[in-house]
Amino acid sequence: MIKKLLKLGVIPTGVGGPGESNRWLDTDIPTDASVNIDWFIDVARQAEAAKFDLVFIVDSQFITKDSPPHYLNRLEPLTLLSALAVTTKHIGLVGTLTTSYNDPFNIARRLASLDLISKGRAGWNVVTSGDTGTAGNYGREEHYDYETRYGRAEEYLDVVKGLWRSYEEDAFVRDRKSGVFLDESKLHALNHKGKYFSVTGPLNIQRSPQGEPVIFQAGDSDHGRNLGAKTADAIFTHSPTIEQAQAFYKDLKDRAVKFNRDPDEITIMPGFSIFVGDTDDHAREIEQFYRRQDQSFEQALGEFGRSFGWHDFRQYDLDAPFPVSALEYAKNSFYTASKRITDLAASKNFSLRETIEFFRGARRTPLAGTATTVANEIIRWFGGQALDGLNVQFGHPNQFKRFTQEVVPILQDRGVFREEYEDTTLRGNLGLRKPRFVKNAELCR
Ligand SMILES: Cc1cc2nc3c(=O)[nH]c(=O)nc-3n(C[C@H](O)[C@H](O)[C@H](O)COP(=O)(O)O)c2cc1C
Repeated sequence: MIKKLLKLGVIPTGVGGPGESNRWLDTDIPTDASVNIDWFIDVARQAEAAKFDLVFIVDSQFITKDSPPHYLNRLEPLTLLSALAVTTKHIGLVGTLTTSYNDPFNIARRLASLDLISKGRAGWNVVTSGDTGTAGNYGREEHYDYETRYGRAEEYLDVVKGLWRSYEEDAFVRDRKSGVFLDESKLHALNHKGKYFSVTGPLNIQRSPQGEPVIFQAGDSDHGRNLGAKTADAIFTHSPTIEQAQAFYKDLKDRAVKFNRDPDEITIMPGFSIFVGDTDDHAREIEQFYRRQDQSFEQALGEFGRSFGWHDFRQYDLDAPFPVSALEYAKNSFYTASKRITDLAASKNFSLRETIEFFRGARRTPLAGTATTVANEIIRWFGGQALDGLNVQFGHPNQFKRFTQEVVPILQDRGVFREEYEDTTLRGNLGLRKPRFVKNAELCR
């Protein structure tokens, strides 16, 4: 049996993602990093030199003045990844795209194009959008409720996969002698008519060297986990402790079995900030330094409303009990995350100030220490069925360098991470099977 190796991804958030309001002040990061393609190419090449599996681009389409700096001004994922596709050779290219505000035909086509441009390295992080305000950018009064969002997402994935199966592998004969360009018997229309979408097909693009782009999923509710367990090749999540990570891992893999899937077919990759220091204490000092510098309490208060549909918490008395009634604003937003916050605040009788301070403290990463400490901890989580891989938050350039140059070699020495890419495709490097070609008639009964 082939020993499964750890998977690594990098999440570049330029001038600062959530909790990093002042990251852009750092003189080692260009002030335009989030819209500077040279910066992204540099990050992707560093990750590729360290044999990372993938670059993971998060995204959203609604901003407020309290949004993190990277969110205020950033490149659209597939456009950005197309540029990375021609400036890198091996690394996988995963983009976040929402099923709530795109047509399946459009997404199927754009992702299939990226997959061909990159010669089989494209991936799609399927999200349903937690930012309720996105509705206003797409002609809707309100964001979809959970039922509709996840109902659409499931059907959406069926349609997109169906469209990717428009042509059989060898449909294009391209034989100038016989004059046959296409074997028409290998072209299949979709003719999908469902609850949310009606799509005739076929899609006007052939399959890629990895067959189809790799599907990631991020969404933590019961609906979200079922969607991931049923349809995804990989899962993006956040797990602050090994116990939480193990519980999530087991839950997802158990759900996969219920959907008649081999649990090894799903790669679980939580995201982490990582701090490497000369001693364990030094690493924690670096972490503390960045956390203090990255966001003031006032900035944290402004950003806190995001999971509650960008509800403005500045209107409440900071020292009064946490306003649990604000949960109603989260009902179509990041409800799972907001419910967790509200339940915890209520159970501990926290004020709003204490709640925000608690969650700022909870951002302390489990992965900080010397390179050996960090590597040991990653191996412990990996061996303890808490993860199959991890997405490293790029953070500070020096820190990413220390990770790639000090931690990765230890992981390689211990035999848990590759020394060379095994394959030319993202699917191959993740150890996933190339999907069997299925005729649309079979897929869309
Ligand atoms: C770890 C994680 C990452 C996510 N990343 C994104 C993202 O980049 N863009 C986005 O629009 N939504 C993102 N989402 C939002 C989800 O798609 C979903 O709309 C939201 O989490 C609410 O659903 P849930 O209660 O199932 O988690 C993310 C969710 C999770 C849990």
